[in-house]
Amino acid sequence: MSLSKSSVQAADKRKILVTCALPYANGSIHLGHLLEHIQTDIWVRFQRMRGHETYFVCADDAHGTPIMLKSQELGVTPEEMIAAVREEHMADFAGFHISYDNYHSTHSDENKAFAEEIYNRLHANGHIKTRTISQLYDPEKGMFLPDRFVKGTCPKCKSEDQNGDSCDNCGETYSPTEVLNPRSVVSGATPVLRDSEHYFFDLPAFGDMLQEWTRSGSLQEEMANKLAEWFEQGLKQWDISRDAPYFGFEIPNAPGKYFYVWLDAPIGYMGSFKNLCDEKGIDFDAFWQLDSEAELYHFIGKDIIYFHSLFWPAMLEGAGYRKPTSVYAHGFVTVNGAKMSKSKGTFIKGRTYLEHLNPEYLRYYYAAKLTSRIDDLDLNLEDFAQRVNSDLVGKVVNIASRCASFITKRFDGMLSTNIDNQALADEVMAAGDSIAAHYEARDFSRGMREIMALADKVNEYIAIKEPWQLVKDETKQQEVQDICSLGINMFRTLMIYLKPVLPVLADSTAQFLNDELIWEGHKTLLTDHKINKFKALLQRVDMDKVNAMTDASKDNMSPTQAADAEKKPAKKAKAQKVVDNSAALADPLAADPISDEIQFEDFAKIDLRIAKIINAEHVEKADKLLRLTLALDDKENGETRQVFAGIKSAYQPEDLIGKHTVMVANLAPRKMRFGMSEGMVLAAGPGGKDLWILNPDDGAQAGMRVK
Ligand code: MSP
Ligand code: ZN
Repeated sequence: MSLSKSSVQAADKRKILVTCALPYANGSIHLGHLLEHIQTDIWVRFQRMRGHETYFVCADDAHGTPIMLKSQELGVTPEEMIAAVREEHMADFAGFHISYDNYHSTHSDENKAFAEEIYNRLHANGHIKTRTISQLYDPEKGMFLPDRFVKGTCPKCKSEDQNGDSCDNCGETYSPTEVLNPRSVVSGATPVLRDSEHYFFDLPAFGDMLQEWTRSGSLQEEMANKLAEWFEQGLKQWDISRDAPYFGFEIPNAPGKYFYVWLDAPIGYMGSFKNLCDEKGIDFDAFWQLDSEAELYHFIGKDIIYFHSLFWPAMLEGAGYRKPTSVYAHGFVTVNGAKMSKSKGTFIKGRTYLEHLNPEYLRYYYAAKLTSRIDDLDLNLEDFAQRVNSDLVGKVVNIASRCASFITKRFDGMLSTNIDNQALADEVMAAGDSIAAHYEARDFSRGMREIMALADKVNEYIAIKEPWQLVKDETKQQEVQDICSLGINMFRTLMIYLKPVLPVLADSTAQFLNDELIWEGHKTLLTDHKINKFKALLQRVDMDKVNAMTDASKDNMSPTQAADAEKKPAKKAKAQKVVDNSAALADPLAADPISDEIQFEDFAKIDLRIAKIINAEHVEKADKLLRLTLALDDKENGETRQVFAGIKSAYQPEDLIGKHTVMVANLAPRKMRFGMSEGMVLAAGPGGKDLWILNPDDGAQAGMRVK
């Protein structure tokens, strides 16, 4: 007995539920968020094209202290603010053609019901513990302070105005109670320590299950390694309660205690899907029950792996739900090689981008650079313009524009019945399987490379055949029709492959070709088929518009957004910190998005000068520092700088006077406990007594010259 085609498809048909991390409801969508939503959307569109029952849900993450405070700042209720932000987010994502089936909010009835149910089950199963902890409290504002709402002096290096959990100056991480001279960012008041009972989720009880899940699942290698490290450090109890005032859901039977935002945020995936199921009559349980055969995938950024690969599966397990099939993390977007920056105009909001450029350019550029790994992705704006112009305009669309007019003008829009070059057609059609495998594996960059290599071959074929020459010869008309028909067909096949990435270009292509561009269509050719008149399908990227976009991005956001954008987890953060301080951003894996390597342009910015030490003295109460007065460019009557240098172990101050040194002259002045430091002195050596700065003649001997 042979199966009919449709029953084979039904047997292969997968049920897939996909999510993106839920953006916070207190800031705009920027090109960093968009990497995630574009990556996920491409994958989802691909799955849908292949006929699988696929749902894609997201929501705004609407709870927590920052959202509560921001709405107060704006003088509106949190409900009003999150409703307005959700509208804005939905419009931005729609602008980039992100095809959610539902975009909900964590502040919803569905989410409240699931959060309570999951908590109650965890509680009933003995996974919730209580313990009294002592935390900084703002007596003026009447609230406990999350770490990032405390500032003060670093307990280690004593530099002032540092964050409550880490020091930007020396990189040390600490608890906010260790900060010297702490103050509340909210009111300026000096915080006091206050006790309060907190609720904890017993994560360690799930250690064995998590280890097994890590091994059995299809986690990325880097993620599995990271998890192994965390297991080694030992799992800790997770603090899931916050005291009033808090914007969130109250914990059942615990008046005045609220679920910490990160408890109900992932549950928001279920809430959003439930809302969709109720509207569309989809079977919710088929996706979430313990023995579900559906696949569940979470696409997230590397900064929130801890939450998705430890807390979330453990919560699901403890409450009797299925666990994710996999969690897929991506790296961070940098722009022109650096963290997105407000002053450089590279902190680009989705909306600002849309006001200047076609969203499909960005979709293609991200696709061309995305792999299945967790590496950061640099959006280099010059490269972006060049890549889109050369690949999409110069290679793909070019095939159609070279061939279309002959078909319309000479052959009344009819494609030939002959295949001029079967080998070429076969090669392009056969690539479908391997391109599909790259999409499936989220290795989009390989998929794009393969598609562009095929486009090169088709262009080469057309260039060799030169239909524009043949057309002049009346006896060669059939050949012209055959060549151009194959060209148009190859363009069609490539556009089928590109459809998950470029849905709008695919739509206009479908209109032009009178064909729907379904995935299976890559195995066939259009012969004796009428096409429509060709209209320009895609404009080139205009660098002036790119520049206008970065100009428009300078200083166009609120200070809170600037802080979010520059959110940078401390380098030495420990897993413990994440658990206890619940700082969404302190994930240990989330290193600075900029790698430590600098480009020549960065180096060229450093103004190195030879300076003469015209005075040096001890600094009272400092163990390592000397106060130096440096004459720039060796001119004693010229500009001088005061610099504090940690070279006391190697030099007596009097021995230094008259010597030369190399200094960084354009380092931003920094306020230290003892005064301003207006530069930095470069010294070499292993440290201690062996720390060398230059002698009057050393520089000359080494043939050294610094401009
Ligand atoms: N609300 C939490 C997620 C809760 S999921 C249950 C959150 N929100 S966020 O708005 O800060 O980030 C949302 C997603 O955007 C995260 O996956 C984060 O990694 C990603 N990105 C934020 N900035 C990014 C870049 N610069 N580059 C790439 N992704 C970035 O975390
Ligand atoms: Zn410090």
